[in-house]
Amino acid sequence: MKRFAIAVDGPAGSGKSTVAKAVAKHLGIIYVDTGAMYRGVAYFCIQQGVSPLDEAGVLSLLNNIKMEIQPGRDGQRIFLDREDITSKIRTQEIGLGASQVATLQAVRQKLGDMQREMAKNNSVIMDGRDIGTFVLPQAEVKIYMDASVEVRARRRMGELEAKGEKPVFEVICEEIIRRDENDMNRLYNPLRQAEDAVYLDTTGMGIDEAVEAIIRITEGKIGEV
Ligand code: DC
Repeated sequence: MKRFAIAVDGPAGSGKSTVAKAVAKHLGIIYVDTGAMYRGVAYFCIQQGVSPLDEAGVLSLLNNIKMEIQPGRDGQRIFLDREDITSKIRTQEIGLGASQVATLQAVRQKLGDMQREMAKNNSVIMDGRDIGTFVLPQAEVKIYMDASVEVRARRRMGELEAKGEKPVFEVICEEIIRRDENDMNRLYNPLRQAEDAVYLDTTGMGIDEAVEAIIRITEGKIGEV
């Protein structure tokens, strides 16, 4: 089977990671969560006492980051200096910090290079904000996943509640809107649908339905996998 790539872009909470992980399992390919890498950079900065908004501070740390990504059967694990930070980066604070460091071109270049390297020798499904437009513009399959702000906020609420947190719906909505604004209006590689991407609105869709839709689109583009 020829190597292929599926690029999945879309705003926070559109269901990209859950769906992409399930598609990867089904097709027996590697899942790369690029958002986790931006979160890793934000986590490192905060750990070092540097605000993700402090451009010079973030850039001065960039070459010292020892980040390792391990794709696995049950999703991807991310290590910082050998420490497994996979679950530590799943907070609202790190999510917002990630969208702040993601405005910097040097950060995007560095992470983009790492991401392309991961797709070089493997079939991958990679999710993020600029995969179809910048990281893997030649991807055989491109999906732009979207959902209403309310539905995305409910999904985030569910994730946070499952971790024992007590999120407030209005606050989560506001954070999602702020993150959309950051991600869609930044100068370098803003979130937008690639011209050749298929638009998938998951507002009224369950996970299985979205997974099936992507598998169908993939088979339509490259034949039975
Ligand atoms: O998908 P996520 O919520 O884990 O992503 C966190 C932030 O990282 C997101 O708000 C914007 C940034 N990001 C990006 O700019 N480009 C990507 N390819 C992936 C994430």
